[in-house]
Amino acid sequence: MEPSDAKGATQWLFDRGWNCPWVFWEGDFDQNVNLWTDLASLQLAESTCSDQSWLMFKPAPILEESVDWIERSLKSNAKSSESQEMLSCLDIGCGSGRDLAWLLSRKAVDGRPMWRATAVDSSHGATNRTSAICENMGLSGQLDGTLNAKVAVNGLWRLLTRDNSNVQVNNASKKGGKPTAATGESTLEFFSETVQQQISGTIPPKHDLIITIRFLVRSILPHLPSLLNPGGYIIISHFVDHEDYKYDQPRQNHRLGMNELRDLFSSLEGMRVVVDKLEQIEDGRPVNSIIIRKEYSL
Ligand SMILES: C[S@@+](CC[C@H](N)C(=O)[O-])C[C@H]1O[C@@H](n2cnc3c(N)ncnc32)[C@H](O)[C@@H]1O
Repeated sequence: MEPSDAKGATQWLFDRGWNCPWVFWEGDFDQNVNLWTDLASLQLAESTCSDQSWLMFKPAPILEESVDWIERSLKSNAKSSESQEMLSCLDIGCGSGRDLAWLLSRKAVDGRPMWRATAVDSSHGATNRTSAICENMGLSGQLDGTLNAKVAVNGLWRLLTRDNSNVQVNNASKKGGKPTAATGESTLEFFSETVQQQISGTIPPKHDLIITIRFLVRSILPHLPSLLNPGGYIIISHFVDHEDYKYDQPRQNHRLGMNELRDLFSSLEGMRVVVDKLEQIEDGRPVNSIIIRKEYSL
């Protein structure tokens, strides 16, 4: 794109109601030496410490505002010095990886731990974009793996091949040779057995933090604690049905009910709801953002 095209693009976006403060053309990155500082002054980019890459995206607010105290809590709870230095995150429904890449890009300054992460999404485009953003930011070494997997409404998981058909799981090596590939597998079985057997690499079976943002398959929620280390946290932020807000998407049956998450997790043994709030995303739609801690091993 040339600068003149960028002006046209800006106008095109304004005409269609987008609040679009800046449109780039690729030459900006080579020719405008003040680009990053100008963007930072408009709060369109940020560098949280001197040796961190510049970022032009923000994570979900609930993650950004809580990550410091979550890290302190996880660090103070860690049994070994190794687990104090490196924490593990599982992002379910990772999309393009904005939350995960932001988390991995945090540097181990001021005694902060580092993060490693696993990204799960049914869309190959999504996991490809997550891998690409991590690679571009020099974070691939912290990405334990991306999983193309789909969870059905009944809560059963399947690994997908590139054409979205089921991966053939080697059932002979599974207890009793159950034909699990056809029907899918429970959350615990999928992550602790199939992923460990089928995916090369270092995806841990349990994590210190599970995030699932703007993604809702209700049937897996009660099983998420089984993927957490003791003392670990779950962050969920999703659209909620609230009488003060009228909006079309997602449709009502894909929205949370008010207090649905709080009631569910409060009823699970060993789980404690530590944050529960109603927030608005950029376009004004309401989300319920909640943080739950696993107090002890179940
Ligand atoms: C609205 S996006 C949210 C992405 C990301 N968490 C974020 O906040 O930017 C929802 C993601 O969930 C994935 N997804 C939807 N249904 C799924 C399913 N049944 N199993 C696995 N992933 C699914 C979609 O491919 C999409 O990338």
